[in-house]
Amino acid sequence: MIEDVSPYKCHIFVCTNARQGERKSCADGKSKELAIALKKRIKEQSWSNEVRVSRSSCMGLCEKGPNVVLYPQRILFSNVKHDDTEKIYSKICEIIETFD
Ligand code: FES
Repeated sequence: MIEDVSPYKCHIFVCTNARQGERKSCADGKSKELAIALKKRIKEQSWSNEVRVSRSSCMGLCEKGPNVVLYPQRILFSNVKHDDTEKIYSKICEIIETFD
């Protein structure tokens, strides 16, 4: 094993867990589409080397979903709608500008 520093200033995890209606899950709120929109936005900004968007499984916060978390900043966005993509993007801009 090799321990190292993450190459990303911000790693965005979007829960895309789907339970097919069995009980509430983030995918019910179209979180997969949200992850795609965020990835597109990051790519447009040429931040692919600094910011990473990953789909995640359940974060244990299903009732609050869809959930998006930013690390290492420990920022959680809950009840995220597709229209919130720009608000999340604005937060990422803040992080990139102040990161050192
Ligand atoms: S399904 Fe997303 S937090 Fe559980």
